[in-house]
Amino acid sequence: MKNNRLIIVSYRLPFAFETTSGSTTLKASSGGLVTAMKSLDFKGAREKPVWVGCADFSRRTWEKHKHLLNDDFEYVPVFLDRKIQQDFYNGFSNSVIWPLFHYFTTYVDYQEKDFVAYQKANEAVSEAVAQLMKPQDIVWVHDYHFMGLPRLIREKKPDATIGFFLHIPFPSYELIRILPQKCKQYLLTGLLGADLVGFHTNDYNIHFLQSVQINLGVQHKIWKINYQNRLIQSDAFPVGINYSLYHDAYDNADVVEERAALKNAYKDNKIIFSVDRLDYTKGVMQRLDALEAFLQRYPEWTERLTFILVVVPSRDEILKYGERKVMIEQAVGRINGKYGTLIWRPIVYRYGSVPFPQLLALYTACDVALITPIRDGMNLVAKEFVAARKDHQGVLILSEMTGAANEMSTALHINPMDENEVADQMKIALEMEPEEQARRIAIMQRRLKEYDVKKWAGSFVESLLNMQSTQQIEPAP
Ligand code: F6P
Repeated sequence: MKNNRLIIVSYRLPFAFETTSGSTTLKASSGGLVTAMKSLDFKGAREKPVWVGCADFSRRTWEKHKHLLNDDFEYVPVFLDRKIQQDFYNGFSNSVIWPLFHYFTTYVDYQEKDFVAYQKANEAVSEAVAQLMKPQDIVWVHDYHFMGLPRLIREKKPDATIGFFLHIPFPSYELIRILPQKCKQYLLTGLLGADLVGFHTNDYNIHFLQSVQINLGVQHKIWKINYQNRLIQSDAFPVGINYSLYHDAYDNADVVEERAALKNAYKDNKIIFSVDRLDYTKGVMQRLDALEAFLQRYPEWTERLTFILVVVPSRDEILKYGERKVMIEQAVGRINGKYGTLIWRPIVYRYGSVPFPQLLALYTACDVALITPIRDGMNLVAKEFVAARKDHQGVLILSEMTGAANEMSTALHINPMDENEVADQMKIALEMEPEEQARRIAIMQRRLKEYDVKKWAGSFVESLLNMQSTQQIEPAP
């Protein structure tokens, strides 16, 4: 990437300003996207890569504290009007695209004003990107908040090289049909402004190509689309994780200490663990139903098992998320009341985020990771759990509705809607021989180590650069 400067666009910038008792500090994010972008090789590049995103701080805060940012990136915050930002993020992004693309059609709450805000936000960000673009720059747009962006950038910079990656599922064209005509037109033609469109799985890619064909009448051939005299490639790039970060953490002193504390606290019990953002797509209620089915079917596990359920707060301004929290907490209380004894409760529930050492201690102290989304674009928790098991122990129970299911080939795959099946797989997992656990973990670890987050980001950028030269050499007929 010597001659190309990378411009990354995502809804969130990879940092936050935190003000406590009058003093402001910078908190760097550590999510998957940040790790991926930081893993790219910019050595020898003429300029720093630029990261554009929506500001969740005021212009005043930015001007006063931007000097705190001193790393390998240049950052460009886009300041949206507060109401526009709300309707864009809580409204069209998370109350229309998110539920629809995860097949929760009855949760879709379409409001005209939200779609208007989505377009305005995409327009404002496209302006910011176009203003800073130079020839040879490549733009990588991330996720469902910015599906209109590739076309808007292309209208301003016809020769731009633009990649788009969707971090959530792309659903069957039948789901896209539900959207008002102007919305599906906007989203699909928006994506077709890119040179390269990436998804986590082949299925999502096929769904996208079918949607383009059925909804726009645009033909495709072997992952290539000819549209308005340009060639667009779409493909699967399953996102990986920072394998060594999770694997090597096994021996970190703080992880060792936390793990010992957990093992001691639950020394008479096997541990089943799960951690998710509070989201209806994650299937937490189905997981609780399955636990109940398990306790009913296999009462011999009474007082011998603890399910540690961590739910991380998310999108709390949206009604459906608040409702889900109440449902989960009621179910936890009911199950503990019904199946617990005077000296034991089956579920230990925590609502809040867990620091990295504690999370790694949980990944490595548990006997089973129970991951049951109803739909999930990828699911990185499953991958992190497997990578963390340097001891080659532990069993992954994973929903077949996740993008990760194909790659995590030796997990125990379940249909999250079938509580009896999940209950039976829990028993198999709890009783699995250590040699069999090791065999399964080792196969999955090989895949994760080989195709890690660095490979993911690198192969996307490489394909995008290839598209750049393809467009230059042979413009599509
Ligand atoms: O999976 C899609 C995604 O947008 C992730 O990129 C992100 O970490 C997660 O959902 C949480 O979303 P939000 O930014 O709305 O908190």
